[in-house]
Amino acid sequence: MKKRAHKKMTRMRNKKKLVKIESKKATLKKVQTYIPNFDKLIGGGFEKSSANIIVGGAGSGKTIFATQFLVGGMKKGEKCLYVTFEEKKEQFYKNMLKFGWNLEEYEKKDLFTFLEYSPVKVKTMLDEGGGTIETAILHKGITRVVIDSITSFALLFDKEIERREAALNLFNMIGGWNCTSLLTLEEDLTETKELTSKAIEFESDSIILIYFPSEKGERNRYLEILKMRGVKHSKQVHRFEIGKSGISVSLRKVNNFNRK
Ligand SMILES: Nc1ncnc2c1ncn2[C@@H]1O[C@H](COP(=O)(O)OP(=O)(O)O)[C@@H](O)[C@H]1O
Ligand SMILES: [Mg+2]
Repeated sequence: MKKRAHKKMTRMRNKKKLVKIESKKATLKKVQTYIPNFDKLIGGGFEKSSANIIVGGAGSGKTIFATQFLVGGMKKGEKCLYVTFEEKKEQFYKNMLKFGWNLEEYEKKDLFTFLEYSPVKVKTMLDEGGGTIETAILHKGITRVVIDSITSFALLFDKEIERREAALNLFNMIGGWNCTSLLTLEEDLTETKELTSKAIEFESDSIILIYFPSEKGERNRYLEILKMRGVKHSKQVHRFEIGKSGISVSLRKVNNFNRK
């Protein structure tokens, strides 16, 4: 009896050990977004130090998604940087507070850095190296970065070849930061299937598409993962909601998704 009990204990301990090692491995490589159910679609989270893009039309939920990714990290004590070309700080903080995300508080605790940056400044930074963004990241030990959005940056270049070079430089720079980043790109995908900038598509590690089409007189929110390097991700379109605590993704199968 005693022997059997001992055997059982050992078995349980070994099992526990295995689970521990596996979860450690997973946390080493994956950066959870903490967006309910989203991590399940992408094998646990973003790859550590990857540059990810979220694409959608105006009002589709890019800013909320990106901020939720940062808040998830900050709740665990991670330092985050939000770089924006578009959002005004006061209004942005007010909007995010509606989801219970107190950015001012996080800022006071030095977990959150808000940077309003012009696309031209980013271009200068790429040409000359360094700049406020890099200083903030390297000195504060920031691990999650959002750039919201890179649309106006991409618009600085008329020719695809220039955009390609700029995108390459941008992703190289981000790659050097050793952070997990999420960049937003404003493009209405209900109109076209193709992204305007192939360069951005090529250089990023992953692309998430979000839609907000009108269906039978009401708009619904959907997302899908177009690509994620080295990850077995969901190939389905998923519904999501923006509720009181932000975005949550539904795992239920969508049958008749209509982009338009
Ligand atoms: N507190 C809220 N509760 C529910 N939905 C909201 C709330 N705030 C904004 N939204 C929805 O989110 C949309 C804006 O999302 P946002 O992330 O700013 O879009 P994007 O950055 O893609 O333009 C609004 O148009 C509205 O439909
Ligand atoms: Mg936005």
